[in-house]
Amino acid sequence: MDEVLERLKDGVRKFQLEVYPQRAEMFAQAAADAKTLGFDAVEIHGAHGYLIDQFFWHPTNQRTDRYGGQSLAERSRFAEELIRAVRHAVGSEFVISLRVSQWKLQDYTAKLATTPHEMEAWLVPLAEAGVDIFHCSQRRFWDAEFTDSDLNFAGWAKKLTGKATITVGSVGLSGEFLAAFRGEASVPNSLDELHRRLDRGDFDLVAVGRALISDAGWTRKIHEGRTSELVGFTKEALATLA
Ligand SMILES: Cc1cc2nc3c(=O)[nH]c(=O)nc-3n(C[C@H](O)[C@H](O)[C@H](O)COP(=O)(O)O)c2cc1C
Repeated sequence: MDEVLERLKDGVRKFQLEVYPQRAEMFAQAAADAKTLGFDAVEIHGAHGYLIDQFFWHPTNQRTDRYGGQSLAERSRFAEELIRAVRHAVGSEFVISLRVSQWKLQDYTAKLATTPHEMEAWLVPLAEAGVDIFHCSQRRFWDAEFTDSDLNFAGWAKKLTGKATITVGSVGLSGEFLAAFRGEASVPNSLDELHRRLDRGDFDLVAVGRALISDAGWTRKIHEGRTSELVGFTKEALATLA
């Protein structure tokens, strides 16, 4: 993993200022193309160690120019300008979602924002740049983001930005997805806690991954209350994607 981290750090360090407008324009053009093709929204991936997230995270962003800095807010300028370019290309009515994660593939316990104040300084400028929805990636949606509150990441993002948010992470399953890649199985889990948070208004949308890979009828079963028919997730289910 150290080797991967070094490679990412090197990539961010070598990213040339001169090519930035061109890269931002590519994101903008892709979003404009999606709009032309009739899509209702685009989601920009700013999580899990992808390019934008490499700029967010201090261990991978050691730049000293306008795209680097000690604070998360400074390291967010890369994303902010890129989102502004996308917003400019798609107009004010088209929906832009941004996927963000505190955790990194290199460090599951990493946190970009260690306090609500830091999270506000990170996400509010992105909302002002044009994000309509924050897709807040967690491995377990029930994990509290900070102490003294049971709000999860999507809950805090909504509270701090006023924007719609998507929660994700082990919905309907007992175990999280990275453990699934290591071969750990998950059994069906109650949705009561998810409903409690949804009813409280913590977030607006819920993303479901593995439960749907195991069972394409999952949504219908939930809708019809057929919970005894739900199945768990095993790594064998991944082979069904081929
Ligand atoms: C087979 C599989 C492939 C995935 N691929 C990606 C990916 O390419 N990029 C990404 O950001 N997340 C990826 N994810 C993570 C999912 O988007 C999601 O956040 C995660 O599975 C948690 O949801 P779940 O607990 O409902 O499965 C993947 C998950 C699975 C199971």
